[in-house]
Amino acid sequence: MWYPNFAFTIIITGITIQQARADADLVFDPEGYNRGRYGPHPHQYYHSADIVSPLLLVNRWDPTKADNASYIFLTLNSPVDDGIAGPIIYRADDLSLVYSEPRWSVAHNAHVDQFNGSDYLVLIAQSRLRILAYSESLVDSSGLKKTSEGDFLVSARHTHSIIFVDRQSGRVRWALGGKNNDFVDISAGNATDFAWQHAARFNNAALTQLTMFDNHNVSSTIGCTTSCSRGKHVELDYRAHTVRLISEFYHPEGLVSGFEGNYQTMQSGNVFLGWGANPTFTEHIPSGECILDVQFDLWRPDEGYPINYRAFKMNWKAYPTWDPSISVHGVSPLGYYKVYVSWNEATEVTKWRLLVGTSHDSVTNSIAVVPRAGFETEILLKPSLPFVRAVALDRDGMILGMTTVVQLVAYDVIVDVS
Ligand SMILES: *[C@@H]1O[C@H](CO)[C@@H](O)[C@H](O)[C@H]1NC(C)=O
Ligand SMILES: *[C@@H]1O[C@H](CO)[C@@H](O)[C@H](O)[C@H]1NC(C)=O
Ligand SMILES: *[C@@H]1O[C@H](CO)[C@@H](O)[C@H](O)[C@H]1NC(C)=O
Ligand SMILES: *[C@@H]1O[C@H](CO)[C@@H](O)[C@H](O)[C@H]1NC(C)=O
Repeated sequence: MWYPNFAFTIIITGITIQQARADADLVFDPEGYNRGRYGPHPHQYYHSADIVSPLLLVNRWDPTKADNASYIFLTLNSPVDDGIAGPIIYRADDLSLVYSEPRWSVAHNAHVDQFNGSDYLVLIAQSRLRILAYSESLVDSSGLKKTSEGDFLVSARHTHSIIFVDRQSGRVRWALGGKNNDFVDISAGNATDFAWQHAARFNNAALTQLTMFDNHNVSSTIGCTTSCSRGKHVELDYRAHTVRLISEFYHPEGLVSGFEGNYQTMQSGNVFLGWGANPTFTEHIPSGECILDVQFDLWRPDEGYPINYRAFKMNWKAYPTWDPSISVHGVSPLGYYKVYVSWNEATEVTKWRLLVGTSHDSVTNSIAVVPRAGFETEILLKPSLPFVRAVALDRDGMILGMTTVVQLVAYDVIVDVS
């Protein structure tokens, strides 16, 4: 273990310290949520971070069948008043917020990509690729995907076809779907009936399997029973010139998403779907059964907003270059202070150590170590010394970062003396 260059002392006995998750609870009340009981755009604020995040409605969730990837990535785009926008990351195991970045309100496609052997968070904002210039992702945004050989898969949503283009000659090698379809559909039309599709991808190294988000229509609705949007997985046989449907994944509510959306196959074989024009993401086991169905806003198919360009579930680790945050709010009648700590984007914090001291420069006495709880941890404490700061620890007790020092004063105000 490593500690910075000053001593920690456990000094105080007989002090009660309570810790709680400050985040709002997940909502499990679909009727109330969709009737506006939690507001027209359900959201929550935090004490220690100047961000806002959607209040999530969980319609279904079976963690025992979920893929073990650790984070869920959204990029919300909401021109509606009070709507929430920007890249957002949730922990997959408890759906608590990890990252929200309202500065990039017109962003899309936030996800993890590899560059030069390392993982990066990549997103497109204001027509620029942020964090890292990675050309494949840029190409990706216009519906193109390069194969490892450098050929291009073009999803031409307006012609309801997917086209494979030779890298060297620029020649169309084949087309699937649409007027120039080159494959006999041996699934009675079900492999080639896609329309207005998004995010077509090869799904295997042999380039014989394709996945896509089949929007199927341009006007969004909820409660459809036929012609709904779906995730679609098909297999091509280049010799026989046939295509067959492997599987389809439908939203339990019956959704048509008129635009955007995506299909991600995970390591377990589970499928993760972003529903574009409809404010939801789902996870499915290979049989099609939906095991996670979460909404981040009310159904509003006529408006089509807020939208989420794509949703992903991926492993991710982030050590932010900024410091963790602390704020102190008020005093309870018994003289306890409520201290809030959080660290936007940090993924590795498991515990918070609280230090107190007699002055701004001597905040070195350790009074408690509490587990991280949600995005923002609330700690109720009654220290004998008036200056406090929090230290973020990883699972081995290593220090990842420290907040500024705040002074506890007996009024409902925050004094940041650093
Ligand atoms: C890729 O990684 C290697 C080894 O870490 C480094 O030397 C090189 O500068 C990196 N290249 C780019 C373009 O970042
Ligand atoms: C095609 O889809 C229809 C409607 O979902 C279904 O009834 C039919 O069995 C499917 N046929 C094949 C060959 O997959
Ligand atoms: C698309 O949606 C509209 C409006 O709901 C409907 O009238 C039309 O039949 C749909 N088209 C297809 C191909 O399903
Ligand atoms: C996650 O699941 C994959 C298979 O889907 C497995 O190979 C991997 O070891 C698992 N990782 C952890 C951390 O359990």
